[in-house]
Amino acid sequence: MSENTQSPRKPRVAVVFGGRSSEHAISVVTAGAVLKAIDRTKYDVLPIGITREGRWALTADAPERMAIAERTLPDVDRLAESATGGVVLPVDPADREVVLHEPGSLPRALGQVDVVFPMLHGPYGEDGTLQGLLELSGIPYVGAGVLASAVGQDKEYMKRVFVSYGLPVGPYEVIRPREWDRNPAEARKKIVEFAADHGWPLFVKPARGGSSVGITKVDDLSGLDEAVEEARRYDPKIIVEALVRGREIECGVLEFEDGPRASVPAEIPPVTDHDFYDFEAKYIDSASGLVPAPIGDEATAEVQRLAVAAYEAVSCEGLVRADFFLTEDGDFVINEINTMPGFTPISMYPRMWQESGVSYPELVDRLIQAALTRSTGLR
Ligand SMILES: Nc1ncnc2c1ncn2[C@@H]1O[C@H](COP(=O)(O)OP(=O)(O)O)[C@@H](O)[C@H]1O
Ligand SMILES: [Mg+2]
Repeated sequence: MSENTQSPRKPRVAVVFGGRSSEHAISVVTAGAVLKAIDRTKYDVLPIGITREGRWALTADAPERMAIAERTLPDVDRLAESATGGVVLPVDPADREVVLHEPGSLPRALGQVDVVFPMLHGPYGEDGTLQGLLELSGIPYVGAGVLASAVGQDKEYMKRVFVSYGLPVGPYEVIRPREWDRNPAEARKKIVEFAADHGWPLFVKPARGGSSVGITKVDDLSGLDEAVEEARRYDPKIIVEALVRGREIECGVLEFEDGPRASVPAEIPPVTDHDFYDFEAKYIDSASGLVPAPIGDEATAEVQRLAVAAYEAVSCEGLVRADFFLTEDGDFVINEINTMPGFTPISMYPRMWQESGVSYPELVDRLIQAALTRSTGLR
């Protein structure tokens, strides 16, 4: 307290994590690493966990309880300071005072927040919804704005934007919710015809998912219905893609003072004991990517160019991880972007920046600084 009266107040960073998406646990792990890395001499921190049900809970500033322990994933409910009550951000842009409401108690002021680090993946976090709330609040935040977040979360619109900016995408077909509702047989036929044109296997995905949740690689017609049902558990809109044969190459983009720059790329080696780069392979076994990707200077320069082009096409801010396939012919096909990529110190995005000369704490600091110097609203 006394220290605050003598020196200017440090910017207060609300790290928001967890959330209602299937990527809840990963988000907690990531937030733990960010909390650990934030320079406490420079910033104050307010950890806010969103439970799987969507309650904003004040949580302990306890990074050590937010890691994967013994193959067990952490959870906001276990970190919350109380089982009820919620943290509320003011929607009045003139007011940055965050308040904790608990049943039976007077509202408790938690102080001002200067910037939000939305460490959330997937729906209700990385998809523009949270960003919309923060725009209303007038509180600056790390990462992509409303539109870029929404586009980056929707595998259909993301591809449409890429195509319109000349970025190479693989063959795909979208089945919208109403198509199933009106005529499931017709919708299924659309997929079967797509398979006839492009061949099996197909990837059946929730259009707005992440962390490979709900995705199935379908080898033939016999697995189709089950795969569609699985994808639709997560999203009524599904996307079907032809298999792109190629090496998986990722590239990070980070905003510097003079604009976005690409990191050295990484290669995700083909998985052996998993069907594809699925949830388990990604997080539990920490599938280790190769950084830098051994693809030569020319391909490296090309993927870096494409990554920045993808960042610009979608109007990203702060950061993005762009994921590609490198085909046998030496061509890149863009698979997707992640506006809030996996961000633990062993995740690909920080590792690629580490290899490019930007350490994890510096990365966190850069993102917070970029957000602090940016206003909300149209830009
Ligand atoms: N069209 C495809 N061709 C080949 N592999 C694919 C294709 N789509 C997805 N995959 C594999 O599945 C993984 C997850 O798919 P992705 O679309 O990246 O979903 P998520 O958004 O959940 O990360 C990819 O990293 C890749 O290994
Ligand atoms: Mg992916």
